[in-house]
Amino acid sequence: MATMSTVYLNEKFLPADQACVPVLDRGFIFGDGVYEVIPAYGGRLFRLNKHLQRLQNSLDAVRIPNPMDTEDWQIMLNALVEKNNGGDQSLYLQVTRGSAQRDHALPKNPQPTVFAMSNPLKPLAADIIESGVSAITLDDIRWQRCHIKAISLLPNILLRQEALDQGAAEAILIRDGFATEGAASNLFAVIDGVLCTPPTGPFLLPGITRDLILELAAANNIVHREQRISREDLQQADEIWLTSSTKEILPVTQLDNTRVNNGQPGPLFKSMLALYQDYKQQLRNA
Ligand code: PDD
Repeated sequence: MATMSTVYLNEKFLPADQACVPVLDRGFIFGDGVYEVIPAYGGRLFRLNKHLQRLQNSLDAVRIPNPMDTEDWQIMLNALVEKNNGGDQSLYLQVTRGSAQRDHALPKNPQPTVFAMSNPLKPLAADIIESGVSAITLDDIRWQRCHIKAISLLPNILLRQEALDQGAAEAILIRDGFATEGAASNLFAVIDGVLCTPPTGPFLLPGITRDLILELAAANNIVHREQRISREDLQQADEIWLTSSTKEILPVTQLDNTRVNNGQPGPLFKSMLALYQDYKQQLRNA
């Protein structure tokens, strides 16, 4: 039998089935909180400081005081990885505004709830690397603060499910004729030989994986650009990828039931995947 995973809740490590939060927690009542998903490779947290900086930005944007300083976050998250036996993991953490009588107005002295857990991080299946996945385009029905990693994810959930219902793996979201990102991933497209991704701003999450891909492109003389991607650009793209901490790089080979280029993962995807795997391996060996 698999051993029960260890989670962290408000200064304590405990078995997952013993962690409870009060029903008046504003995370439960309002979805009032923010989160991060951080991969660990070989027991080492991936770009932890960048994730903690993004967490700080999200907390500032929703006016929740950060309950821990950087060093405490590092100590706690590293301990959580260790208690879950190291290796490759995906850590999830969330900070909510804590418990208070239900009132939309912010409580005067919030006591934030901090929760963190570990999930297995599985490598991308060989058949996906071989054949890619399909995606559909959907209207981006989300709000105008998509740069905040908020736990209130109803639009994202409904969009992802709509994609699954139509036999696709992910929804690519379109706002005013331009693609923003996936329901839980960032978007890249190879257009006229140039690797493109939409610029950051209020309409997409500044992904940590997205940043790394831009850095790897720069370091390896891959021509790349942050630029808006229209629906028509996508339809004519040579390659389309989706990126996230849990999926890494996913090649999209069908868009709205039409093949992307020849319907196979492209050459630039294969090069970038190799660079990404090397980068992970360096972290494991560090
Ligand atoms: N989601 N955009 C959205 C809307 C996301 O939810 C995510 C990640 C990303 C990619 O960001 P990063 O590369 O930092 O993981 C972009 C996580 C994995 C999730 O919600 O589970």
